[in-house]
Amino acid sequence: MTDSTQAPTRDHATNSPVPATMRSAFHERYGAPEDVVSVRTVPTPKPAPGEVLVRVRAASVNALDWHYVTGLPMFARPSLGLRRPKRQVPGADASGEVVALGEGVTRHAIGDPVFSEVDGGGFAEYVIAPEDWWQPLPQGVSHEQATTLGVAAETALQGLRDWGNLHEGQRVLIAGASGGVGSFAVRLAKLLGASHVTAVCSTRNVDAALAGGADRVVDYTREDVRDLGDRFDVFFDNAGTMSLRECRKLLVKGGTYVSITAPKTKWVKPMPRMLSVPLHFALTSESAPAFKVASRSATDQSWLAAQIAAGRLEPLIEQRWSLEDAPEVLRRQGEFHAQGKSLVIP
Ligand SMILES: NC(=O)c1ccc[n+]([C@@H]2O[C@H](COP(=O)([O-])OP(=O)(O)OC[C@H]3O[C@@H](n4cnc5c(N)ncnc54)[C@H](OP(=O)(O)O)[C@@H]3O)[C@@H](O)[C@H]2O)c1
Repeated sequence: MTDSTQAPTRDHATNSPVPATMRSAFHERYGAPEDVVSVRTVPTPKPAPGEVLVRVRAASVNALDWHYVTGLPMFARPSLGLRRPKRQVPGADASGEVVALGEGVTRHAIGDPVFSEVDGGGFAEYVIAPEDWWQPLPQGVSHEQATTLGVAAETALQGLRDWGNLHEGQRVLIAGASGGVGSFAVRLAKLLGASHVTAVCSTRNVDAALAGGADRVVDYTREDVRDLGDRFDVFFDNAGTMSLRECRKLLVKGGTYVSITAPKTKWVKPMPRMLSVPLHFALTSESAPAFKVASRSATDQSWLAAQIAAGRLEPLIEQRWSLEDAPEVLRRQGEFHAQGKSLVIP
């Protein structure tokens, strides 16, 4: 009997055996990325039953990676790992080729190009995830494009379509319109039929927001969106810099506020804002919104990839980094002024 959990015979991309060791970003404790993240040679993981090992060709960088590495805010520690991080290899999105199959895997074959939101592990040469998580890469979609479609694109899609209940012909406001989530939110708002999109970002990102499809860009370093006298059907708040009272004033009657972010502090300061979202909008919004967290969705990832394949969606990819740059790219992500998506190419 063969043991199918053993490493496969060939890595089809390089036509070489899957090596016993790989290069990987790694952190054993919480802290500033530049202090706790290093890039090391570690054993290449072997897939358990139902899992698939993928040679990573591109991984994308998300705010989530920064939260996992720093362990902040503290109240998230029960899910991140109380004393030590549960996920010691950063990287929440990955795209690459299948190189080994755990026992019982039927959906994928060696050599298949696939992509997914993974539960950490993307900043490495190889990553494992359950077979159901990996989606086939459609023709015409690159690994670099596909790896942007996890956390950031799913959050923008679920935020506008599901929590914002965005309908065709509506007017949308997107605050924080130029980073990972925001650049997708601008593109997807238009794709989902918004008649007018107002994007809020800083000076250096104005042109990129216009190129992404925004009808109007408000440079928050020069003007204040509250001074426009405009009201919106959907306010996708990816910045969290205004009070909830001020956010409410920017909505038409029955308009929807989508809350996905809160102030970045060490302890519990984000909590009051997150908990008070429903209270602030219960009387003014048709569907009382709450602070939302996006979830991994194979259906959404496939739909997003199909939009790229059809030429309807183009992710904004600003920077490519090597694996050795992982500490620096994570440090920069923690500044929360990313321009589109940054990639790590292991
Ligand atoms: N709830 C969820 O499921 C979920 C999922 C993903 C992300 N998030 C959260 O959503 C936030 C954005 O994530 P991301 O990946 O898009 O981060 P990012 O790539 O770092 O983007 C941050 C964005 O915020 C903008 N920004 C910063 N200060 C601003 C201000 N004062 N006014 C308006 N915009 C401002 C930046 O634009 P400029 O550089 O032009 O200032 C940039 O567009 C993060 O807080 C993240 O933790 C939540």
